[in-house]
Amino acid sequence: MSNKKYYIKTFGCQMNVYDSNRIAGILQNLGYTEASNAKSADLIIFNTCHIREKAAEKVFSDLGRIYLLKQERAEQGLDTIIGVVGCVVQAEDEQIAKRAPFVDFATGPLTYHRLPEILAKIARKKGQSIIDTEFPAEAKFDFLPENKSQGGCSFLAIQEGCDNFCTYCVVPYTRGVEYSRPVDEVIKEARRLVKSGSCELNLLGQNVNSYHGEDGNGKERNLAYLLRQLAEIDGLERIRYTTSYPADVDDDLISCHHDIKKLMPYLHLPVQSGSDKILKAMNRRHTSGDYLKIIEKLKKANPDLRMSSDFIVGFPGEEDKDFQATLNIVKEVGYIQAFSFKYSRRAGTPAALMPNQVEEKIKKERLNILQDMLFSYQLNFNKECVGKIMPVLFESKGRHKGQLIGRTPYMQNLHAELSNDCLNKIINVQVTEATTNSLSGKAV
Ligand code: SAH
Ligand code: SF4
Ligand code: F3S
Repeated sequence: MSNKKYYIKTFGCQMNVYDSNRIAGILQNLGYTEASNAKSADLIIFNTCHIREKAAEKVFSDLGRIYLLKQERAEQGLDTIIGVVGCVVQAEDEQIAKRAPFVDFATGPLTYHRLPEILAKIARKKGQSIIDTEFPAEAKFDFLPENKSQGGCSFLAIQEGCDNFCTYCVVPYTRGVEYSRPVDEVIKEARRLVKSGSCELNLLGQNVNSYHGEDGNGKERNLAYLLRQLAEIDGLERIRYTTSYPADVDDDLISCHHDIKKLMPYLHLPVQSGSDKILKAMNRRHTSGDYLKIIEKLKKANPDLRMSSDFIVGFPGEEDKDFQATLNIVKEVGYIQAFSFKYSRRAGTPAALMPNQVEEKIKKERLNILQDMLFSYQLNFNKECVGKIMPVLFESKGRHKGQLIGRTPYMQNLHAELSNDCLNKIINVQVTEATTNSLSGKAV
C-alpha cells in the first residue's frame, strides 16, 4: 500500500470538514500520503453535501471532471479509485450509481469508518462499485483511529444527527437520529487535541446543544456539564460550540456564558425567519419572541456576547409581511455575521410538497435586500473594532510574505504582519482597519 496518495475534496458544513480530517487519518493509517492535487492522487474522495440543490448538483458536475482525469491517468497506466462519501450518498445512492457509474465506492456519513474494508474489497474485485448507506448499529467514532490536531483550532464532533425535522431540511434523513458521544470519550479526544497543539476547540453537532452523552457512571449529561469539564483542561484557551437549536438553549447553558471565561463571546444561533407563521410552517419549535428572549438572557449572562444566524428567504407561503418580520429581527438582534439562503426545494422533505411555493424572482429580490442589511451590520461591527486590542489566534499564512491570518474572539478574519513562529498562537493585536469581510491589525 505504500506510496499511494489520496486527495479529499470537501463540500458542505464543518461536520464534513471534521469527517474529512478523520477519513485522512484512516487513509494515513493504511499507508497513504496526501496528494497536493487530484491529478497526482491514486484515491480521490468527494465528501459531499445535500443541503441545497446547488450543493448537490455541484458534486455531480465535479465528478464528471474527475472521471476525465481518471481516463487521462489510465492512458499513463495509472489506476485511480474514485469514492464519494457524505450526505449526497445517503440521500441519492441510486442517482450516484446512475449518473456516475464510474464511482468505485460510495459510503454515507455514518459508515466511513468501514473504509479499510471497502478499499480491500475494491482491491479484490476490480471494476465493481460498492455502495454502503446503512445507518449502522455501531457508532463510527468507536472505530476511527485517533485524530490529530488540525492546528491552533480543532473541530471536535460531540453529537451527530438531528431529530428536529424542520420541514425544509434533509439533515435528519442524511445524518440520521441524534447521537451523543460519551463524556469521557470527548474529554479524551479534547486532551489529545490540546496536547498536539490546539488551544481552541470548536465542538460540533448538527444540533449541538441537544447533547446528552453519558458520563462514566452511565448518567446522561448536558452540554453545559461538558463545557464545564472541558474548561478545566490546561492549555485549552478557547471553546466554541456550533450549531445550536434555539428551543434547546436552557438556563444551564446560558449560565455557562457567564461562568466560563474560555467560552468565546460569539454564538451561532440560527433563527431562519422572523415570522411566526413561517417558523410554524418550518416546524421550528420557537417563535420570534422566544428567540429574542433567549438572546436577552444570553446577553445578560455575558454583555460582550454577539450573535450570528442562518436565514432562509422564500420559504413556501412567505409573504411580504413575513419577509419584513425577518428584516425586523435582524434589526433587533444586529447580527455581526450571518448566512442567508434562498429556500431550495428538497425531495422527500415536507416543504417541497407545500402549496404557495415562492417565485425564484421574489426569492432573489428578498435575498438581495436581506444580504445588504446583514452586510451593513457586519461592516458596522467590524468598524467598531478599529482601535481595539483583541486576542487573535493565528492559523494560516496570508497571501503576502510575512503575513498571517487569524481569528478574533468574534470569528472575524484578521491579518497582520507576523513571523511564522506566531502560527497557532494567540497574540494580542490592535485592529487598524476594517472591511466587511476582514480586519487588519498590528501585534502589540
Ligand atoms: N443544524 C443546523 C444547520 C443545518 S444546515 C441548524 O439547525 O441550524 C445549515 C443551514 O442551511 C440551515 O440553518 C438553513 O438556514 C439552511 N438550509 C437548510 N435546508 C435548506 C433548504 N432546503 N433551502 C435553503 N436553505 C436551507
Ligand atoms: Fe436541519 Fe432543522 Fe435539524 Fe438544523 S435543526 S439540522 S435545520 S432539521
Ligand atoms: Fe451538507 Fe450534510 Fe452538512 S447535507 S450541511 S454536509 S450535514
